[in-house]
Amino acid sequence: MCGIVAYLGEREAYPVLIKGLKRLEYRGYDSSGVGLMNGDIRLYKCKGKVADLESHVGEQDITGTAGIGHTRWATHGEPNDTNAHPHVSQSGDLILIHNGIIENYGPLRKELVKRGYEFRSETDTEVLVNLIEEIRLKEKVSVGEAVRKALSEVVGAYAIVVMSKSEPDKMIAARKSSPLVIGLGKGEFFVASDGTPIVEYTKNVVYLEDEEIAILERGEEMRLFNIRNKKKTPYIQELELHLEALEKGGFDHFMLKEIYEQPRSIMDSMRGRLRLSKGLVSLGGIVEYEQKFLNAKRIIFVACGTSWHAGLVGEYLFEDLARIPVEVEYASEFRYRNPIIYESDVVIAISQSGETADTLAAIELAKSKGATIIGVCNVVGSSISRATDAGSYTHAGPEIGVASTKAFTAQVTVLILMALSIAQKKGTISKSKYRNLLTELDSIPQKVTQALETNDQIKYLSGIFMNARNFLYLGRGYSFPVALEGALKLKEISYIHAEGYPAAEMKHGPIALIDEEMPVVVIATRGASYEKVVSNIQEVKTRKGVVIAVVTEGDKEVKEIADYTIEIPATEEVLMPLVSTIPLQLLSYHIAVLRGANVDQPRNLAKSVTVE
Ligand code: G6P
Repeated sequence: MCGIVAYLGEREAYPVLIKGLKRLEYRGYDSSGVGLMNGDIRLYKCKGKVADLESHVGEQDITGTAGIGHTRWATHGEPNDTNAHPHVSQSGDLILIHNGIIENYGPLRKELVKRGYEFRSETDTEVLVNLIEEIRLKEKVSVGEAVRKALSEVVGAYAIVVMSKSEPDKMIAARKSSPLVIGLGKGEFFVASDGTPIVEYTKNVVYLEDEEIAILERGEEMRLFNIRNKKKTPYIQELELHLEALEKGGFDHFMLKEIYEQPRSIMDSMRGRLRLSKGLVSLGGIVEYEQKFLNAKRIIFVACGTSWHAGLVGEYLFEDLARIPVEVEYASEFRYRNPIIYESDVVIAISQSGETADTLAAIELAKSKGATIIGVCNVVGSSISRATDAGSYTHAGPEIGVASTKAFTAQVTVLILMALSIAQKKGTISKSKYRNLLTELDSIPQKVTQALETNDQIKYLSGIFMNARNFLYLGRGYSFPVALEGALKLKEISYIHAEGYPAAEMKHGPIALIDEEMPVVVIATRGASYEKVVSNIQEVKTRKGVVIAVVTEGDKEVKEIADYTIEIPATEEVLMPLVSTIPLQLLSYHIAVLRGANVDQPRNLAKSVTVE
């Protein structure tokens, strides 16, 4: 999704903005731009990557110690040079960058056209910058006040930064439903949609709350108001981000680095929560809400994308271990379906970014019906983590690759811990099973390390299958969500069409697709439905499909029938998703690399989807 970076201080702004925009590239975008303030405004923007913007700027004037920069992920209007941000007001006095969507931009635009405004772009953002200008000129107020008044007329989501030629030492930043963080340096301000462009300059940050407006002025302290003009005190926090986490550390891509980080990130998700010697699992963030879980007649997971797949694993876990009925909902469907929600429901919202608009809206809906809302988020301080009653962070560290990998395994780890702790308190799990799962869980990071050793074999297999046009992924039980996630990973980064299916469902449709051209990835690890999966593999082989099976170390039966087998270490079925997902991540990675795809920033995708 769109990214914002802005600077006001003593340094040259352009290098700070360009570096910041590069840091934000991971969010996904299709055009970018910068606006520099140096007596006059200089605007540079173009379609494509930040590197294209740099070539476009070339030798032109880039001086100035204040400026704003933006990466745009197109919503209103196609990605082109004109629609790229910053947008400038009609008189040329104001420049503005914006994330989010102004929902009532149509009527506002009509009104402005009546008053003589002409629009160059198709964006809602150009409407906003002219609305601010109109208020400023008509009411003869400061930029800050004009921004405040304009935002009171706006319906929708926004994170914005505005500068004015007539007040060149000032920058106005505001947010609603789209994150914005302000970095406070010595005599300088940074504004960004997340901490990544700020981390190397300062650790002192203020996260804006919804409908807050910050006035940043040279030589002054930051001032904070809300949209109703109430003065607020900025809450300065320490930015929890380390520079190393934002660099590739010797790997070719962030995605590969993050795949390899999983033994550590899974361990971090368990740190302080799994206490093997005491036979204890405790998630500090939800301790006070345990009774709600114990009384819950139902758990509803709401999430999108990969996080939804983690929710599906959660369904198996909570039903199997804690005997609580579970529903797993796409947040986007749930919010518009007039769903039945009881006060006794526990709604668990899963989100890596903590900013997904549909998930946030689903939370608000469930909240309005009195349900208990628990968050499982990766980004500390994110909107979802703040909107929930309580929750557990996944502690996977920043995930830069757009295709989620370590965030998924961290989410699953947290859900396993949650389900185990509730099951133990509810008495729905035997002491020996509980103890055994705890011991096994403790050894998962080491098993993930072992699973990563399949890398060379998978690279080799990727060479064989890189030109396939379709893939089918099959799994049963706990391996079904893994199959879905494997298929999603492949289509996201290699653009090969892939479907995930419960293995037994294959015969009700997908079997018609199977021929010698169709690679079928089957998760066939040892477990309750192993024999049934073996039969499913046979069904594929009878139709001449090519089977790549992920099997438990030492497996003989599948080896005899599958074309290729990838061996991973044995573990409890409940925990297997954490291990079996690894080779699937590697497979999609290597196929994408061989096809020359942009692995870390796949086309059309955004890391954090802040629009519905
Ligand atoms: C986007 C990302 C996916 C992610 C989904 C949900 O589509 O590209 O990788 O799974 O959003 O994001 P969340 O941050 O809520 O987990």
